[in-house]
Amino acid sequence: PAKAGMEDFLHISDFDKATIMKILDRAAEVKAVIKSGDRAFLPFKGKTMAMIFAKPSMRTRVSFETGFFLLGGHAIYLGPDDIQMGKREETCDVARVLSRYNDIIMARVFAHQDILDLAKHATVPVINGLTDYNHPCQIMADALTIIEHVGRLEGTKVVYVGDGNNIVHSWLLLAAVIPFHFVCACPKGFEPDAKTVQKAQQAGISKIEITNDPQEAVRGADVVYSDVWASMGQKEEAAHRRQVFQGFQVDENLMKLAGPKAYFMHCLPAERGVEVTDGVIEAPNSIVFPQAENRMHAQNAIMLHALGL
Ligand code: CP
Ligand code: NVA
Repeated sequence: PAKAGMEDFLHISDFDKATIMKILDRAAEVKAVIKSGDRAFLPFKGKTMAMIFAKPSMRTRVSFETGFFLLGGHAIYLGPDDIQMGKREETCDVARVLSRYNDIIMARVFAHQDILDLAKHATVPVINGLTDYNHPCQIMADALTIIEHVGRLEGTKVVYVGDGNNIVHSWLLLAAVIPFHFVCACPKGFEPDAKTVQKAQQAGISKIEITNDPQEAVRGADVVYSDVWASMGQKEEAAHRRQVFQGFQVDENLMKLAGPKAYFMHCLPAERGVEVTDGVIEAPNSIVFPQAENRMHAQNAIMLHALGL
């Protein structure tokens, strides 16, 4: 259904550059208000949010729930055993029922089609809190973090090292909108979705490279980015992946090759000693905790935009 004055947030590439930049500016503004201790900005007063989680979470759950509360609203956590979307009840029914109670829905699901179905049948905005395909709220927070630390996102070089997963797809979809240099270095057979790579390349906005050589890829990077080798839903492949991903650990040597200006980022949770060493994640140029904090600020701005506020 049409959502008068309101919008879903499902993929970064659903928006133009001006809108993405406006959301990021708004995130910085609202962050400053919250950090100042001012609790008088309550745009979500009287509003409620349903949060559907088919997978575990720390950051997504706590940042959405806290952010929505700090801006005046009330959020309801629905865990994997509660709604069981598509199992206990059809997604189209979940969407229509929740739309009658709640002003906004956030969902973390397995199949990407589930979030598309939810958005299709809901009459309130739906926010994507991660699917097997993408994780747009994470990459909006990452963009905010890069702007804060590097000074800008445009023209920077972001090198992702690891599995061509949902995080990479959201980086690619951001690169279809904002010009920067994105490189994904992954083992053969673990490249990101070819259609998504093509979409990002055809947008003609950013320089995009997919490679199997992390040493070469990281040279001159502003950011070296890592994520788990086995995502949620793939944990039974973890042992096999540890073999295949040898050489893709972000360690001190790789950071040295990247050069002195490179920050280290990771969406977390991290498996220390697997995709990243303790030394790298604890180094002064690691910005994983400011990055995690920015989930809340980026999402507050995303929800304001989604609700037309
Ligand atoms: N980065 C992230 O989405 O973390 P959680 O899985 O803890 O929500
Ligand atoms: N790629 C990871 C990201 C977790 C935030 C996963 O999907 O499990």
